[in-house]
Amino acid sequence: MKAKQVKPGIYWVGAIDWNVRDFHGYVTPRGTTYNNFLIMDKKITLIDTVKSDFADVMFERIRCLTNPEKIRVAVCNHIEMDHAGSWDQVMKVAKKATLYTTERGKQGLERHFDTTSWDIQVVKTGDTVKIGEKTLMFIETPMLHWPDSMMTYIPEDKLLISQDAFGQHLAQAVLFDDLVPQETLEDAVIDYYANILMPFGRLIKAKIAEIQKLGLEIDMIAPDHGVIWRKNPQKVINMYLDMANGKAREGVVIVYDTMWHSTEKMSRAVLDGILDEGMYAEVIKLRETPMSVAIKQFWRYRGLLVGTPTLNNVMFPSVAEFLQHLRGLRPANRIASVFGSYGWGGGGVRDALQVLKSMKLEVVEPGYEVNYRPNKEDYDKGYEFGRMFAQKVREYHKKFE
Ligand code: FEO
Repeated sequence: MKAKQVKPGIYWVGAIDWNVRDFHGYVTPRGTTYNNFLIMDKKITLIDTVKSDFADVMFERIRCLTNPEKIRVAVCNHIEMDHAGSWDQVMKVAKKATLYTTERGKQGLERHFDTTSWDIQVVKTGDTVKIGEKTLMFIETPMLHWPDSMMTYIPEDKLLISQDAFGQHLAQAVLFDDLVPQETLEDAVIDYYANILMPFGRLIKAKIAEIQKLGLEIDMIAPDHGVIWRKNPQKVINMYLDMANGKAREGVVIVYDTMWHSTEKMSRAVLDGILDEGMYAEVIKLRETPMSVAIKQFWRYRGLLVGTPTLNNVMFPSVAEFLQHLRGLRPANRIASVFGSYGWGGGGVRDALQVLKSMKLEVVEPGYEVNYRPNKEDYDKGYEFGRMFAQKVREYHKKFE
């Protein structure tokens, strides 16, 4: 396996994980990559590592260029184990290396590894290290997406090595953005942002503004997952700014589950109403759809309708799981409501509405409920509920135009 040149003297020495489908609970149907970089300068420098399962692959690529013992500078941009998991193996052989990381990065490494023999130097935003012809400049990015996170900028190459930010879970054999279908790439960026970065929109805007204020010229962004942005790095910056500013399509996603098909029948009535209002909609059944796909589709559209049967006076468990995921992601700038069937007593719709109201969402009450099974009259009510909700979505969406 070879190292691949990214810029003169800078090489990708990472790993392609074709097979990962469950990334700590997040479904990755297209696999992922663990990107890290070796700089062949006077002081040989390794930026990040790979998941420990792939350490052999990384070492094989490094050995194409040099003996790993010759690494003198190590940079840990992020301590999550998909990137930091092989530092113990690297530092065991690169005995003369100095490792640069943030204060929280140092603390995290000390919790994961026996670092007593490591030379660790803590860095802050603006600190630089000269490694020969090239310079490393560090930019702390706390909570993007962990407290330890930072980026490394190489001014001589206008290259920003951005750790998770701007990444995508794509196990591509090709390295660069212009070599993959743009639709696939955009979908992967949205998927990644929705499932990982959704809570951090405000921080993302502030950090992008800070980088712009620093006046850094960037002609390439190399994240730790997926392809490297060489043709159009501004594209992913703009996508991030749009998402952080609440950009979404004018449309509705109906996310539902059903016990005996009554809530499913209701979703058809609601869908007809939305479509007849001239609004795009799509339908996702939980338990048939990976959670991360439901989250991504939620993120794409301005409106969310949740369909839930009542079970033991509360919402259905798969719906509760979806809303629990969503609540953790702290969504904003979306409008939502709930419908569902019940046998006696009810409570599912009320329960789901309560959870939606606990988030920063615009909630349309009282939702729409049916006892046992929808009849013709209930269908008509569901249809009108769909039309009404589509009108509310249209009105709410105008705030973002
Ligand atoms: Fe790809 Fe936060 O690790």
